[in-house]
Amino acid sequence: MKIGWIGLGRHASAMLLPKLAGLGAEIAAICDPQPDALARARLLAPGAATFARARDLLEHPGLDAVGIAVGPAVHAELAPLALARGLPVFVEKPPGATAAQAEAILKAAERARKPVVLGFMKRHSTANRVAFNLTRAPEFGPVAGFLGHYMTAPTYFQGNPDYSGFYLHHCVHYLDLVPWLMGPLSGLRVRKHEASPGRLLLHVDFDCRTGALATLAMGTLQSRGAPVEWWQVMGDHRRVEVRNVTEVRYVRDPSFKVDDPNATMAADADTMVWEPNPTVAADEDHKGYRALLQGFLARVRGETADVPEIADGVLAMRRLDAMRKSIDTGERVALDA
Ligand SMILES: NC(=O)c1ccc[n+]([C@@H]2O[C@H](COP(=O)([O-])OP(=O)(O)OC[C@H]3O[C@@H](n4cnc5c(N)ncnc54)[C@H](O)[C@@H]3O)[C@@H](O)[C@H]2O)c1
Repeated sequence: MKIGWIGLGRHASAMLLPKLAGLGAEIAAICDPQPDALARARLLAPGAATFARARDLLEHPGLDAVGIAVGPAVHAELAPLALARGLPVFVEKPPGATAAQAEAILKAAERARKPVVLGFMKRHSTANRVAFNLTRAPEFGPVAGFLGHYMTAPTYFQGNPDYSGFYLHHCVHYLDLVPWLMGPLSGLRVRKHEASPGRLLLHVDFDCRTGALATLAMGTLQSRGAPVEWWQVMGDHRRVEVRNVTEVRYVRDPSFKVDDPNATMAADADTMVWEPNPTVAADEDHKGYRALLQGFLARVRGETADVPEIADGVLAMRRLDAMRKSIDTGERVALDA
């Protein structure tokens, strides 16, 4: 399979291109206006044709699909051009700067009848997937609530005092992850605390159509050198928790041990913990990029695959628009079914 890749910055060169190559895809063409980014990527894809302009890469013959990892406005501009050439697309999040831009990509995908797979890889993180599957097992019963935090640091967004980078590049992930875990949403409301300029804390309350409760804290108040992700989904006498995409705890209904000198641990009641072995040669897929790109390659081959696509991106961007509106007004914003 021959892939053309547009945007060879930090993310593509550290995460996406090595994973694609590991999955057996050929990076046949690469594009970036910065010569040093092109030179670095050529080390990963020595035989690739190189381009400074994305439109030239899209003319390159023999491509089976295109990947794009540049930024919101360029995603919205280039994904429809690739689709118009009949190419399936992998596009990093966010799929545009607004829901309207994401909708335009969706329309282009429908016209071209080609898939657009989106970089919402958190659905594919090994730990998140284990926890998700636990919540969907019949014994978990109805899901009652979600609680989580997903933080970042102010420095990353220092050049962006209006927080749009934080919303578009950071928050959008959990605006996909929360409904993936909790099902469709009917509305949301945000409370905000700005400790000082650039240091923001949001509490987002989601209304789940099931009636379950979901609360997520997101903000720019924590170090990126420390774990910034934790979430919990609660049922009746059980809950599953994921800490920093590397530890899953499944808490159920154990007996109280104090009066039982023979107490041990019951496989069907005491807390189970899953954590990966980081010393083995083959890593688990902590961040989820491998499984996501594997799904993308399956979609390019015309197979079905459980991957986030542009329709999921449109929904996430509508939630993001609603979140921004609620930040401005303090009011609940309804979300369409
Ligand atoms: N899924 C994730 O968790 C995740 C993680 C990191 C980044 N991302 C996303 O990936 C995208 C890129 O992030 P990054 O950190 O690599 O940014 P970056 O700034 O390091 O890289 C962007 C690259 O795109 C190039 N570029 C700019 N305009 C271009 C154009 N018109 N055509 C081709 N190339 C162009 C730049 O020269 C640069 O090399 C962002 O949308 C970001 O949100 C996603």
